[in-house]
Amino acid sequence: MRCSEACERNKAPILAVLRDWLPSRARVLEVGSGSGQHAVHFCRQWPGLSWQPSDCAAALADLAERIALEGRSGLAPEAALADPLELDVDRQDQWPRERFDAVFSANTTHIMAASSLPRLIGGAAAVLEPAGLLLLYGPFHENGAATAASNAAFDAMLRARDPAMGVRDARDLRVLAQDAGLDPCADLPLPAQNRMLIFRRR
Ligand SMILES: C[S@@+](CC[C@H](N)C(=O)[O-])C[C@H]1O[C@@H](n2cnc3c(N)ncnc32)[C@H](O)[C@@H]1O
Repeated sequence: MRCSEACERNKAPILAVLRDWLPSRARVLEVGSGSGQHAVHFCRQWPGLSWQPSDCAAALADLAERIALEGRSGLAPEAALADPLELDVDRQDQWPRERFDAVFSANTTHIMAASSLPRLIGGAAAVLEPAGLLLLYGPFHENGAATAASNAAFDAMLRARDPAMGVRDARDLRVLAQDAGLDPCADLPLPAQNRMLIFRRR
């Protein structure tokens, strides 16, 4: 099974932020779940959490394997981990029709093309309940510059691999969010020069 060491390191600090910000019985859509480690960990730790993992078609088989192997036992009381949904943010028809208290996405904005970001943020706004939250975790630049040498190096590595990738500027994400009806409400520092950007639906 695909396994991300970064997920093992960041899952506890991310969970602490989610627990601070979301209602106790939150219904959450995760975009770009990848290995599914976050989904499994959160549902094992959080009674009453309802989590919908998702990813693009190419990543779905790996994700489904983890959910099937690890997500069917050992969950916290009344936690619910759904079968993964196929969701490419660029495919309007793949966004779910149900509403969520939050949309969470980790380490996806620097992987998807910049042209996909309005669709990530607009799609999230459309599935959020009023006052629902969009939470974006990862490394972000600020006002056109890297905030840490490690993020500058990571950005250069991504762009060399694929010019469509790259660490995004939080200022640009805030503008996209405002346009989609989401107000920035927090920007939290997390370990290893990562951040959690939080937006609330108007
Ligand atoms: C670096 S991985 C992060 C996975 C996981 N969230 C984590 O933190 O380990 C980036 C993820 O973004 C997903 N992704 C890339 N483009 C996407 C798109 N257009 N729509 C949805 N997910 C996308 C990839 O399939 C991949 O699972």
